[in-house]
Amino acid sequence: MSTDIFTNTKSKLSLQDRAVQATSVVSYPKRCNLWGSARYRGNCDGRLFLNLVLRYQAKRVADPMMGSGTTRDVIDWVNERTQRSIEFWGGDLHQGFNLLTQDLPASFDFVWIHPPYWSIIKYSDHPDDLSNAYEYPDFVRKLRTCLKRCHDALTPGGRLAVLVGDVRRFGTYIPIVRDVLNLEGELGAIRAVLIKTQHNCKSDGKNYGRMEDPLIQHEYCVVFKKAERS
Ligand SMILES: C[S@@+](CC[C@H](N)C(=O)[O-])C[C@H]1O[C@@H](n2cnc3c(N)ncnc32)[C@H](O)[C@@H]1O
Repeated sequence: MSTDIFTNTKSKLSLQDRAVQATSVVSYPKRCNLWGSARYRGNCDGRLFLNLVLRYQAKRVADPMMGSGTTRDVIDWVNERTQRSIEFWGGDLHQGFNLLTQDLPASFDFVWIHPPYWSIIKYSDHPDDLSNAYEYPDFVRKLRTCLKRCHDALTPGGRLAVLVGDVRRFGTYIPIVRDVLNLEGELGAIRAVLIKTQHNCKSDGKNYGRMEDPLIQHEYCVVFKKAERS
């Protein structure tokens, strides 16, 4: 009997079994602090990433917007505990890797990317930082370039998982996920759209009074699959 890190309960199931049991709605109310840094704004819980790596039995994994290193830490963790030897490459603008201008350094069967949700959190003053795009169409153009590069780095049949959320800006709802879904074809075939509920957001403590529309409290993980042969 071991602790199920996906649900924080006792379980007899293996990590792999638990990954395959997961559904299209995920929620992790209690943060798992094993990986990455909770102090990094926009840091994500690593369990969804872990789940997908196990489900797809990925062997070569990349994250070109690694932030605080959550995905790198997950792969180290899983390799240590399960005798797997998954290869991992990660980069981020703050470490000198610019996905707008640079290709991923190799081919991978699973690429995970968690881009800025436009300018909702500003990561740096770098002009190529996606969180610095001034107008939304500029952000979408840059996001598309980045996602295309991820797709280009996939081996045939490989998967690209994009974790993204919609935003509201000056009262306007901006469905970023729509613009990601519209890239089907360019990024391969959509294989899954997962809803991930958000917890412990900075906005949680704010009093929004009587908002006309409901507060956004979910994000999406869209999984694309590259064609087996092009
Ligand atoms: C939402 S955060 C990723 C957080 C990460 N998943 C974690 O758990 O810590 C988005 C990241 O994209 C990076 N970024 C923005 N523009 C970039 C670019 N052009 N090339 C590479 N990384 C970029 C930012 O520096 C930031 O770390």
